Amino acid sequence: MGKPINIDWNTLGFKYIKTDLRYVSRWKDGSWDEGTLVADNTLTMSEGSTALHYGQTCFEGLKAYRTKDGSIQLFRPDENAKRMQESCRRLLMPEVSVEKFVDACGQVVRANEHYVPPYGTGATLYIRPFVIGVGDNIGVAPAQEYIFSIFCTPVGAYFKGGMVPVNFTVSDYDRAAPRGTGAVKVGGNYASSLLPHHLAVEKGFADCIYLDPATRTKIEEVGAANFFGITKEGTFVTPASPSILQSITRRSLMDVARDILGMKVEQRDVYIDKLDEFVEAGACGTAAVITPIGGIDYKGKLHVFHSETEVGPVTKKLYETLCGIQFGDLEAPAGWIHKVKI
Ligand code: PLP
Ligand code: COI
Repeated sequence: MGKPINIDWNTLGFKYIKTDLRYVSRWKDGSWDEGTLVADNTLTMSEGSTALHYGQTCFEGLKAYRTKDGSIQLFRPDENAKRMQESCRRLLMPEVSVEKFVDACGQVVRANEHYVPPYGTGATLYIRPFVIGVGDNIGVAPAQEYIFSIFCTPVGAYFKGGMVPVNFTVSDYDRAAPRGTGAVKVGGNYASSLLPHHLAVEKGFADCIYLDPATRTKIEEVGAANFFGITKEGTFVTPASPSILQSITRRSLMDVARDILGMKVEQRDVYIDKLDEFVEAGACGTAAVITPIGGIDYKGKLHVFHSETEVGPVTKKLYETLCGIQFGDLEAPAGWIHKVKI
């Protein structure tokens, strides 16, 4: 395995770059096999696979970070493992144990170590685990065979520019039904987001904001990220809803805000017609990290928070603290960091 050439770590966006090895494990007759690393980045499956027709597919997203001393670490991979178990339960797919998930992530990162971007570039190695239903099927029923696979690809900023404010528009479409699959990370949620995302980008916005499907009065999600706002009093506020994906980044930020920065934290309804309660706002997620929200377009009017061009001071502090922990510059709360290479 030679060193990859022609990767400019400083200008990486969020695009697929083929790396050397990926992990593949198969489930049949009630159990997962040991799993193995393979060079082939294609999967062969039956034309009757439930993943292809009925969306029996879920995924996760986490990152490997290169620290100043050259070691490599993951951020709370056990939380991704547990969330993937929830997604599998919701789609009647076999669960992958936390140990198998975390171990396989480590194998993939170590096998592609030279793709982990250098410390200081801000870039990371994005890890994409997924489970799909395969095998010969035709009826709408869970598959009899499954694949659990993990690949990785080096990435930079998800939204153009990274830590610079971007504007979002409120979508006329709903992301999830009130008792649907909004709280799990299943393929169908993302298939249905393609059109609203496309329409938002066509109008010049970075992505769209989804409102709660029952009343369409409250903010749910910001594209593939969670929403947070900072009030005039400096309180960190983020929506409460059973149809939001429970972001691991958001949960971590709530702890960072409360325990490290001494802020008040509230998880509650965030009304789209009461945006003036916030002096700053942001989108948070593994891919998005923290992306400051310049403004939100709603019914043809742009509500600007701190500024369309400058990052607010609280958002900046949250970003620096979170990234400081993820890249190993700041001490992490117990259990948050999993070293894959010392
Ligand atoms: N919301 C949605 C719909 C997502 O796809 C993601 C990405 O995983 C998030 C929020 C952020 O979650 P996390 O911080 O766990 O990556
Ligand atoms: C992530 O943050 O890992 C996401 O899920 C975003 C992704 C859909 C690109």
